[in-house]
This record gives sequence, C-alpha cells and structure tokens, in this order.
Amino acid sequence: MARVLSCIQPTGDVHLGNYLGALRNWVSGQHANDVFHGIVDLHALTITDKPGVLGKNTVELAAMLFAVGLDPEVATVFVQSHVPEHSQLGWIMECTVSFGELSRMTQFKDKSAKREADFVSAGLFTYPALQAADILLYDAAEVPVGDDQRQHIEITRDIAVRFNHRFGDTFFLPKAVTPPAGARVMDLLDPTSKMSKSSETDAGCVYLLDAPSAIEKKFKRAVTDSENEVRYDREAKPGIANLLDILSAVTGTSPQQLADQYTQYGALKSDCGAAVAAMLTPIQSRYTELMNDKAELGRLLRIGAEKAGTVAQATLARAHDAIGFYPR
Ligand code: AMP
Ligand code: TRP
Repeated sequence: MARVLSCIQPTGDVHLGNYLGALRNWVSGQHANDVFHGIVDLHALTITDKPGVLGKNTVELAAMLFAVGLDPEVATVFVQSHVPEHSQLGWIMECTVSFGELSRMTQFKDKSAKREADFVSAGLFTYPALQAADILLYDAAEVPVGDDQRQHIEITRDIAVRFNHRFGDTFFLPKAVTPPAGARVMDLLDPTSKMSKSSETDAGCVYLLDAPSAIEKKFKRAVTDSENEVRYDREAKPGIANLLDILSAVTGTSPQQLADQYTQYGALKSDCGAAVAAMLTPIQSRYTELMNDKAELGRLLRIGAEKAGTVAQATLARAHDAIGFYPR
C-alpha cells in the first residue's frame, strides 16, 4: 500500500476544478492506498484576516470531503492546525529552502500580483515550505494534485534532498500524480485561465453546491469561439476543448471521441451542464445530511487528528534527531 497525501485549503466553496483535478482521485485511491487528507487552515491563514471564517470554512469543507466519498473508516481526514507538527516542521523547511527558490514559485507570483493593493503576508511567500512539511511528515510516496501544484511538489523534493544531504537520510521523496482528464479545468468564461474561486466573477466557476439550474446556465453561457466546428484543440479552441475535457472527465470517454459525436456547440454545452449537474446531485444531498450533524463531523475530525498526529510526531522526532537538537 502506497502512502498518499494531499491537502486542500478551506478558502471558500469547492469547485469543479477541485473535484475533477483532485478530490475525485483522492476518493478513487482510498482503498488501494494508505491515504491522508488535510484541510490546511494554516495555509488559508496566509490570505485570511477575519475572525471565525477559517473555522466555518473548515467544517464545511470537511462535510464536503466526506460527501464526495472519502470514507472515515479508511481515509485519514484531519485539520492541519489540529496537528501542531505541521508548524514545527514548517520552520525547519523554511530553513532548508532558499529565498531564490521561493521567488520562482508561480503561485506566489500570481497570488501576490492579484493582491497588489492588499496585504501580502510573508506566509504567502513561505507557503511552499509549510506545504513541504505537510507532505514530508507523512512519508508520502504520492501526492495527487491538479497540474497547478506540480511546482510545489518539485520544490518539496528539492527540500527533502537538501535536508537528507545536510543531516542524513530522513525524508522520503514524494512524487506528484495528476489525473489524465480533469487535471486542469478552465474558467467557463475565460478558458485560458484555470477555474478558481478567486475568479473575477462566479459565472465561469461551477461550485459543487450550485443548484442544477445554475450549473446548466453557467455551461450555456460558456465562452467558445466564432467558428462552428467541434474539434479538440486546446491551443486554437480553448473553450470547446475545456467543455470536451470536462465531459470526458465525467463520462470517461476521450475528448477526441466526444468531439466526433457533436456538430453543434449548443448541444455540447447543454450535455455538459446536464452531466455535471447529475454527477453533483447525490453529493449535494450527502453534504446537507452531514452539515446537519456537526457533532459527528467533530468526532470524525478528532479521530483523523489522532491518527495523523501519531505519524507526524514520529517523523518530526526523526528530523529533530537528524539535526541533532540538544534533547530536553
Ligand atoms: P485549491 O483550490 O487551490 O486549494 O486547490 C485544491 C486542489 O484542487 C489542488 O490539488 C489543485 O491542484 C486542484 N485544483 C484547483 N483548481 C483546479 C483546476 N482549475 N483544475 C484542476 N485542478 C484544480
Ligand atoms: N497548495 C495546495 C493548493 O493550493 C494545498 C496544499 C497544502 C497541498 N499542502 C498540501 C496539496 C500538501 C498537496 C499536498 O491547492
């Protein structure tokens, strides 16, 4: 059984990109692997400055993770701040990564540029060091993520190699795994940007809790191009390619094969909307049930923190020994 770890930030509603790029693969991998999934509230703190928001988002995200199918019997689902070893190893990782390496991270460049007029925390810059701690604490072999996170997994490997070289073999080197379909879901209104909760408008972003009618409307309004030929070409026809990729991720048929089945943009859009809505309906009803039982959610998260903590404590102790801190 491979050890698998991946995490998601509690920064608002979960969208179709998160689901097809990440969550769905977490669920499909949970029986074959030993899986750990964290709700990374400390990462979300890099862009949060209001009281109460993180806790609310955390419990909602936990309900969503169980609603999409993570089974608490086999998957360890935990909240990052409940396992203090993340912060502790995070500092050690900050001392193992260079300023130059962090400066090259595209996610930092994008996020800090978007927050130009806003407060840019130092945590936003050192974010990948904390992410490296998340991964290395669990000796993860595989990290299932969307394409956008590959760079963060690469820097984690670089940090692990450097630490092992400095202090002796301590950390296991992880690798990123991205799904063949759905790795990069694009914004429906701006198909050259990835679908994201920080998009300018919600109209191009499909949330997992959107009502079926809203989902269908968003797909009907999807931006395509001025031709009228359905063909899979990411470069020349990003809007159509995105719809084909989404439909492919939902149905399992390849985007090229799907392209052959359509002659009109309208039919592709409405089939896509209907397929996504149908996929999300059962998830939405499980979500509602779970949100009505917060005591149970709390219990599941405490079990997760307990299991995660046991692994994390052992790894942190190994790192401390390797460094040779004077024992207390
Ligand atoms: P985030 O919303 O940035 O916290 O991302 C959580 C997970 O969803 C990560 O594994 C991302 O790689 C994945 N993800 C986020 N946006 C997309 C997208 N538009 N397409 C595919 N995967 C995505
Ligand atoms: N940086 C990831 C994102 O924005 C979230 C994340 C934090 C993560 N720690 C992780 C993902 C560890 C995978 C493994 O989506």
